[in-house]
Amino acid sequence: MSQITAFGTYVPERIVDNHYFEEFIDTNDEWIISRTGIKTRRFSKDGEYTSDLAVKAVNDLVESSGKDISDVDFIIVCTTSPDQPMPNSASRVQYKLGIQNCGCNDVYAACAGFVYGLQIAHGFVNSGIYRKVLVIGSETLTKIMDLEDRTSCILFGDAAGAALIEPGDSEHFIAFNSGTNGDLGHDLYLSHKKNSINGVGINPHGKIVQNGRSVFKWAVGNIPKKIRELVEKAGMTLDDIDYIVPHSANLRIIEAIVKDLDYPMERVPESVTEFGNTSSASIPLAIAKSKRNGGIKKGDTVLMIGFGGGLTFAGAIVKWEI
Ligand code: COA
Repeated sequence: MSQITAFGTYVPERIVDNHYFEEFIDTNDEWIISRTGIKTRRFSKDGEYTSDLAVKAVNDLVESSGKDISDVDFIIVCTTSPDQPMPNSASRVQYKLGIQNCGCNDVYAACAGFVYGLQIAHGFVNSGIYRKVLVIGSETLTKIMDLEDRTSCILFGDAAGAALIEPGDSEHFIAFNSGTNGDLGHDLYLSHKKNSINGVGINPHGKIVQNGRSVFKWAVGNIPKKIRELVEKAGMTLDDIDYIVPHSANLRIIEAIVKDLDYPMERVPESVTEFGNTSSASIPLAIAKSKRNGGIKKGDTVLMIGFGGGLTFAGAIVKWEI
């Protein structure tokens, strides 16, 4: 049986409000807030990369839990913005934390990354392959966004969140699901060299590009259905779920999902208004914020669902015991 036994987050110090973008693109604070809900986001410093944020989130996890991480035997970093393609970000984290005898791998599933990471860690721990697994969602998206593209650069922020998964005497993970529409891969991408996806021409300039309207429609049209399927798979109803934590892509997407489900918005933690879209870090940030504000607490049943580039999604229902 596997459990989440510790949790931590980190956001860079620099707070950037919407007025920052008015200096170099045709946009304004009101448009950004009304279309996305985003008021501020954090920018990492020059020379501060995904593995640096990941290490700080793990440090927060250690400080808040008192856990010894020297015997962690696997690190999974979920990211869309690795320090570089090779070595992977998990290996950088292993080195910086000085953890010995530890396997390392990155999960590359955009905004669904953190939940995919939890699924993999659960499989590792539950099967006995590994005993102590760190799952870290970490992003420095502001380093790979196109500052000339007003439809995307206003969305993103940098942050990291970390969870420790260990064996325990009860099962915290109740149900999982996942799925992918690879046919919509060209709607949200980052390409360094290839200039087409699914036969559709793309810009290989190494920056995030998206068809915002298409991603929006896909998320709103599919995620409520996938949440219902997951709840049913767990043998539960929505009334049994204390909190739903969707990926914090856009407040309007979250509101549309919640409306479709007829679920109370006050039980849907979000991180997008304060931190922007932080991809694989957005769910841990929303959970941490909710916990700080007296929301999610020990014993709650929490449904998380990440979704994004792929287009892909991953969901999990977890008994929150920390
Ligand atoms: N400031 C001002 N105007 C902007 C703008 C900006 N930053 N970005 C786009 N516009 C303009 C468009 O050019 C368009 O103008 P036009 O009508 O003259 O052509 C108008 O605003 C409406 O654009 P549209 O793309 O229809 O806006 P929208 O309501 O769909 O909002 C997004 C755009 C990107 C905010 C929205 O589509 C979205 O959030 N999509 C999902 C993105 C996402 O979450 N991606 C990650 C998923 S994990």
